Amino acid sequence: MSQIRDQWGSRLGFILAASGSAIGLGNLWKFPYITWANNGGAFVLVYLICIAAVGLPIMMAEILIGRSTQKSPVGAMRAVAGPAWSWVGGLGVLTGFVILGYYTVIAGWALRYFAQCVRWSLSDFSPEASSGDAFGAFAGNGVVQAALVLAFMCATVFVVHRGVGRGIERVSRVLMPILFLILIVLLLRALTLDGAGRAVGFIFRPNFADLEPLGVLEALGHSFFTLSLGMGAMITYGSYLRRSESVVRASGLVVLLDTLIALVATTIMFSVIFSVPGLEDEISGSTVGMLFIALPGLFYQEVPLGALLAPLFYLLVCFAALTSTISLLEVVSSYFIDQRNWKRSSAVLSCGAATLVLSLLCALSFGANGILTEFSLIFRGTPNAKLGLFDHLDYLASNWFLPIGGFFITLVCGWVVSRKLSEGELVDETTPSWFHYGIWRFCVRYLAPVAVAAIIIAVLLGLDFSKPLADG
Ligand code: TRP
Repeated sequence: MSQIRDQWGSRLGFILAASGSAIGLGNLWKFPYITWANNGGAFVLVYLICIAAVGLPIMMAEILIGRSTQKSPVGAMRAVAGPAWSWVGGLGVLTGFVILGYYTVIAGWALRYFAQCVRWSLSDFSPEASSGDAFGAFAGNGVVQAALVLAFMCATVFVVHRGVGRGIERVSRVLMPILFLILIVLLLRALTLDGAGRAVGFIFRPNFADLEPLGVLEALGHSFFTLSLGMGAMITYGSYLRRSESVVRASGLVVLLDTLIALVATTIMFSVIFSVPGLEDEISGSTVGMLFIALPGLFYQEVPLGALLAPLFYLLVCFAALTSTISLLEVVSSYFIDQRNWKRSSAVLSCGAATLVLSLLCALSFGANGILTEFSLIFRGTPNAKLGLFDHLDYLASNWFLPIGGFFITLVCGWVVSRKLSEGELVDETTPSWFHYGIWRFCVRYLAPVAVAAIIIAVLLGLDFSKPLADG
């Protein structure tokens, strides 16, 4: 362990890599589809509150723990809080493994839609081929699904294997800016569609009668998921951050970018869905496939240069997913590198192989394999029953593991880590003026843990907190 620790090559490098981790399928695929499933408005508002009150302070907490200890989660927890707390890091490693297991399935879909769009651009676009039914057939094709997952996992292993500065940073620097640009083009086009007004209303006009208690848990869980919080990914990335950078500024920027992209992506998709006749019904049949069912039509039938932008867009979805999967694999592997003294290459290869097994099972849970697709251990009897291995892992990891991990990380950062340490990390001459240490400390000690605990307890008790608001 005497090697010099890898570092980000530049200030932009960290911001791009951290936002690369944060911005991913969570923003482009998951947020739109859970916003749809939770009836928009109120869900989005709760989500934004969670981001500001819980997500942002915890982002700073994770990065500061990482930078001050220069260790990945297990070692970092042990260093700041003692061996009794290293299990929090351990839970993070496990969560990373689980998320990576199902995340690569959707990443594989993006890969296939990239290839599909290349084909459409070269020959002709056929609306039937991008319908909900066609999507269902594709998702149920086991061989194709397995091949896609395999391809995506290889790409992830390749980058992580190259290390922090040469692999992760270099990839993020080029790709993230292009993604931002394409999204802006799409947004400008989508806003001129007939359904744009309805879309904006659906997303931004809260109606609390529409919000289920599990929806509140989902909004909380998603705010962790989308910011890559609650499992130490930002601890790990923070551990490669230089001392001369402002933790506060970096956190603020990453959170802002992530939130903007999620809202922009959702606005684009809903504008399309509300504009194209019949699409609404198709989407409702397969919310999971929204990103893939809604957009091809927009590109090929409405957007100038769509035949060029469509393949580029899905390619960038792949890259957005890749910058996220590498952060997940980095957390899992860095545990073996830092704590078990494995060589980087063996750690990355073994973790990648282990995850691949889980990914293959998930890939078969969209119709290819009956048992994996249909078991409903957790959701039996609930109205919009989520079925299959994929949904179960997503539900467990994002709605439970991440909030629980985040809860303990904040507790440690607020109550165990000394004020001197956290203030020293957060406040110096580079700290932006909007930041007040006292408010942050209050959030981390009281607001965030109480909010997370309250939501978890309320859901455990089966409390229906949409009722009073609906009556009033
Ligand atoms: N934040 C990523 C997304 O929105 C997913 C992700 C990457 C993640 N690394 C993570 C989620 C670590 C939780 C923890 O797509």
